[in-house]
Amino acid sequence: MNKITPDIIRSWKGTRRRIAALTAYDFPTARLLDEAGIDLLLVGDSLGMTVLGYPDTTRVQMQDVIHHTRGAARGVSWALLTADLPIHSYDCPDLAVRNSRYLIDAGAHAVKLEGGQACSAQIRAITQAGIPFLGHIGMLPQHVLEEGGYRTKGRTAKERSFLLDEARAVEENGGFALVLELIVPSVAAEITRSISIPTIGIGSGTECDGQILVFHDLVGYFPWFKPKHAQSEGNVAEEIRKAARAYIDRTRGDVA
Ligand code: KIV
Repeated sequence: MNKITPDIIRSWKGTRRRIAALTAYDFPTARLLDEAGIDLLLVGDSLGMTVLGYPDTTRVQMQDVIHHTRGAARGVSWALLTADLPIHSYDCPDLAVRNSRYLIDAGAHAVKLEGGQACSAQIRAITQAGIPFLGHIGMLPQHVLEEGGYRTKGRTAKERSFLLDEARAVEENGGFALVLELIVPSVAAEITRSISIPTIGIGSGTECDGQILVFHDLVGYFPWFKPKHAQSEGNVAEEIRKAARAYIDRTRGDVA
């Protein structure tokens, strides 16, 4: 099988080929998902919650993403491995490029940051440095504290038109694809129709060019919070509890 590249992902725009993407933050998960044939793996800054136990992504540092990217990269031989630039790691274009290079050195094939028009200079600097870039617009988790929660975007005419401009900013500055997070499905569909790069939705309806999900939500490995959009296909949390109880009983000699 040929390795997935940004150009391959881009070439699926307008075809029936949908992009299947998941997060992965370590070697075994990345390897299992890669072997299953996933197209794109994201070392998302959601690792702040799913792996490090923070309440949101606002405390994630570059060292955290670099560390997890190194592990995930060793498990990938087919998927496109993208790594997140965490909050404040792209406050200006030079910093964005420098930190993107650290992620590429750690084994990522592409980077992602949150935002469109306000980050145009950063996105342009990254793509002009030859680093493949994945956009992310809509609900931006790095802004959850200012916004006071995870709110669906695109409910008003003003928000709809803002999101269309955000999408164009990512497209014009060289992004190869664009994540649409928590956007009203009709607006996500309109964005998908109006730009030339593929959209990858999360909580944004079915009319995107692909879907991305947090791995822990897919397999039921984070039972303390389940986003509405995340349809889980497993119950890893229960399997771990069962295995731990069996081990504890066996070790203590409580089993007949
Ligand atoms: O950090 C992350 O996991 C993400 C996805 C939700 C798109 O950005």
